[in-house]
Amino acid sequence: MKQRSIPYALATAALLAAGPVLAADMPPLAQKSGCTACHAIDRKVVGPAWLDVAKRYAGDAGAKDTLVNRVKTGGKGNWTEVTGGVPMPPYSPRVSDGDIAELVDFILGLAK
Ligand code: HEC
Repeated sequence: MKQRSIPYALATAALLAAGPVLAADMPPLAQKSGCTACHAIDRKVVGPAWLDVAKRYAGDAGAKDTLVNRVKTGGKGNWTEVTGGVPMPPYSPRVSDGDIAELVDFILGLAK
């Protein structure tokens, strides 16, 4: 019994340790691009939680294009109930098109 319970306890501890880290960690590209000033994965900061963005657009085939455009040119009024109407600033050309696409892929991937 003792021999079996030790690996089980280790596995449980590993799961407990991995969960919150994965949920809260923003990728380095998001930090470098300045997104983390207003966004977190699992809670609202100034902008909506990226997990909530992912959930809203899950299953929407045009979501990637929509969100790439919003990050490039900014957005307003889509998350008023969460943000109180604060706008999302435009990020092109400060952040490259490739980096914006990568960030949007990351965000949409959160709900998969
Ligand atoms: C100054 C604060 C701020 C920064 C910095 C910021 N955002 Fe936002 N973001 C917002 C706000 C506020 C909204 C909600 C806008 C709205 O209501 O339409 C938003 C919304 C979004 C959305 C959802 C758009 C939609 O229409 O559903 C995405 C995706 C997003 N941001 C990605 C990013 C990325 C990627 C970065 C970094 C390159 C970034 N944001 C940096 C404030 C910010």
